[in-house]
Amino acid sequence: MKTRCLAILVFAASASLAAWAVDIDGRIGPAEYAFSQVLAKDTFTLHWRIEGDRIHLAMEALSKGWVSLGFDPGAVMARSDMLFGLVAEGGKTEAVDAWCTGTFGPHPADVDQGGRGDLLAWAGSRSGDRVVFECTRLLDTKDKFDKVIVPGAEMKLIWATGRDLVFTSKHAKAGAAKLRFEAAK
Ligand code: HEM
Repeated sequence: MKTRCLAILVFAASASLAAWAVDIDGRIGPAEYAFSQVLAKDTFTLHWRIEGDRIHLAMEALSKGWVSLGFDPGAVMARSDMLFGLVAEGGKTEAVDAWCTGTFGPHPADVDQGGRGDLLAWAGSRSGDRVVFECTRLLDTKDKFDKVIVPGAEMKLIWATGRDLVFTSKHAKAGAAKLRFEAAK
């Protein structure tokens, strides 16, 4: 009887875990992310789930080209920690962990500035202009070209969408928002 109860408990626990387990596959499942915030109506939504020492992020955007998120900028774009997803039709996806050096760029990759590419996993999908880019990184990567994400603390974010898949080309749309990276749920 005890063994049966234990088996039921283990099954129930793994079923509830599976219900929200994040799968970095370029698709956003119904219960996959704990939180979502629209950063720009009909243009850019951010989904996230914090799990231990890491954060899973999904950018869902309307974009002909790249999608990008920048953490904690100074003036306009300066000193923001940027993440880029370059998702082609068919799902072939490249990711860049970048750092913006000036008010209006440039934003070289961390690896080209003596830092590291700190994304642990990424994947994307595209259907026309509808793009999903998912990725995972540590909350605190310890790289000087990454900002620390503190659960529950408010952070300024910038977002942008590109005209094409060229990492250095200027955005078609861009904006800023404030967001509290909640961890519970
Ligand atoms: C090579 C890439 C980029 C270039 C050349 C660039 C250049 C500029 C310039 C010149 C402006 C002033 C306003 C305008 O002319 O539209 C601007 C504004 C802005 N950029 Fe960028 N940018 C780039 C990438 C990014 C990225 C990746 C983000 C966000 C992750 C971003 C976020 C913003 C925001 C929030 C503004 C202010 C809002 C606005 O004016 O649209 N930019 N950028």
